Amino acid sequence: MKDILDRLDERRASARGGGGKRRIEAQHQRGKLTARERIDLLMDRNSFEEFDMFIEHRSTDFGMEKTKIAGDGVVTGWGTINGRSVFVFAKDFTVFGGSLSETHAQKIMKIQDMAMRARAPIIGLFDAGGARIQEGVAALGGYGEVFKRNVVASGVIPQISVIMGPCAGGDVYSPAMTDFIFMVRDTSYMFVTGPDVVKTVTNEIVTAEELGGASVHATKSSIADGAYDNDVECILQMRRLIDFLPANSADGVPEWPSFDNVDRTEPSLDTLVPDNPNKPYDIKELILKTVDEGDFFELSETFARNIVIGFGRIAGRTVGFVANQPMVLAGVLDCDASRKAARFVRFCDAFNIPIVTFVDVPGFLPGTAQEYGGLIKHGAKLLFAYSQATVPLVTVITRKAFGGAYDVMASKHIGGDVNYAWPTAQIAVMGAKGAVEIIFRADIGDPEKIAARTREYEERFLSPFIAAERGYIDDVIMPHATRPRIARALAMLRGKTVEMPGRKHDNLPV
Ligand code: HXC
Repeated sequence: MKDILDRLDERRASARGGGGKRRIEAQHQRGKLTARERIDLLMDRNSFEEFDMFIEHRSTDFGMEKTKIAGDGVVTGWGTINGRSVFVFAKDFTVFGGSLSETHAQKIMKIQDMAMRARAPIIGLFDAGGARIQEGVAALGGYGEVFKRNVVASGVIPQISVIMGPCAGGDVYSPAMTDFIFMVRDTSYMFVTGPDVVKTVTNEIVTAEELGGASVHATKSSIADGAYDNDVECILQMRRLIDFLPANSADGVPEWPSFDNVDRTEPSLDTLVPDNPNKPYDIKELILKTVDEGDFFELSETFARNIVIGFGRIAGRTVGFVANQPMVLAGVLDCDASRKAARFVRFCDAFNIPIVTFVDVPGFLPGTAQEYGGLIKHGAKLLFAYSQATVPLVTVITRKAFGGAYDVMASKHIGGDVNYAWPTAQIAVMGAKGAVEIIFRADIGDPEKIAARTREYEERFLSPFIAAERGYIDDVIMPHATRPRIARALAMLRGKTVEMPGRKHDNLPV
């Protein structure tokens, strides 16, 4: 009996050794943790239960039958993060470069199926060389099975992908279909085809970092929702993110103890908006002063910075925040900002996370670059996302809400439940200068007349009261009372129920 028990220990130890000491050292020398070290850090202590530790590949081509390593390049299982169940798979770069074989794919599929059955989030840690070249179509088939499961799980359980090394070929498309992608700076990169293929096909010479590093995907392509300096920081941030997310689309948001009084007022907000309407201010200050304990998890921080998105809590419960940022491009809506916010609104709606929208938007960005870039379609994505959302929508207009952008930013007309404005709000078709130059074109040569007309327009239209007189704004609130007013609105809306007509699915302008 003792021998049998010892044999189990030996086999476990051998599987835990992955691709061997030399490759583990190489992994560390590159500043990367191993798959098991990453999982240890991600999960609560001693909570990780590993599955399929003894799985080996079945390939016999190219002498592969002589090189079998237990686990076959991916560590899979489940555990808890702050007490809540989470499923995980971590590619083990020390075993065949983490490449995906038929059996490797089967391990991931099993975890995906279990996560779906348990209705719990799944996190994938990527560090891999794509399809196992020696397995050919068996590997490609495996990818297809994983992709299909990503799509079936979309909107049912949160799916998070963390890129912690190379991620190429088939490995990029599974993350691309999950809810969030995070990267580690300098040690991770993602691309469909690597620098060598790029050079052959297009003659372009680029490094892996220039082609698909975190600096590219978190700022230019918007593929990544965030980037962190190293494995440890990245994983600790994933623990923090999971705390904000519901386990699935039915459970509702998690509730954590909060020591921040919901009735807390913030007198400093009364002077946040400058007297000069063209002067910027930082909308993040409003978000940080509204959420519990100033704890805000910002997403896509370095992409389309003219709009801010992320999770915070009010009364211990998760809220999604969308806010125009006057500090960047005056908070204008352009193609990138519209896409960024639209995807976030849809995530929140899918997982029953209420949305708070802070509005200070001068309109959509004019110009050929935007129009050629599809501003109509991208803007429509945000309009569509808000219009289709059935979660509680609370909107606060702090300053400008001009033109179509007024409608888009969770206005009453497209489904806003509670719409507030600060006394500094200006809700109109456009700003005073543009408006006066159009409707009083005949007076343009007379500066006195134009000044009088501008004053008249500002007094009449650039206030929250015209909208409030029509009931488009439910109340004009004092800035310092923003947190308590939002908290009360959200509490009132907890049981919100909206029936949308039955259909196969909508046709979002993708
Ligand atoms: C089998 C692989 C492998 C792969 C790496 N290895 N990629 N084994 N299949 N795809 C093995 C190497 O042989 C090596 O084994 C170990 O992993 C580490 O690889 P190195 O090349 O030494 O590491 P490094 O220099 O860091 O380079 C990492 C890398 C490179 C950039 C990922 O290995 C690479 O370019 N690999 C191929 C990437 C690729 O083209 N994959 C196919 C994509 S096509 P030893 O024994 O020496 O440690 C694809 C199609 C799917 O995925 C499409 C579905 C839609």
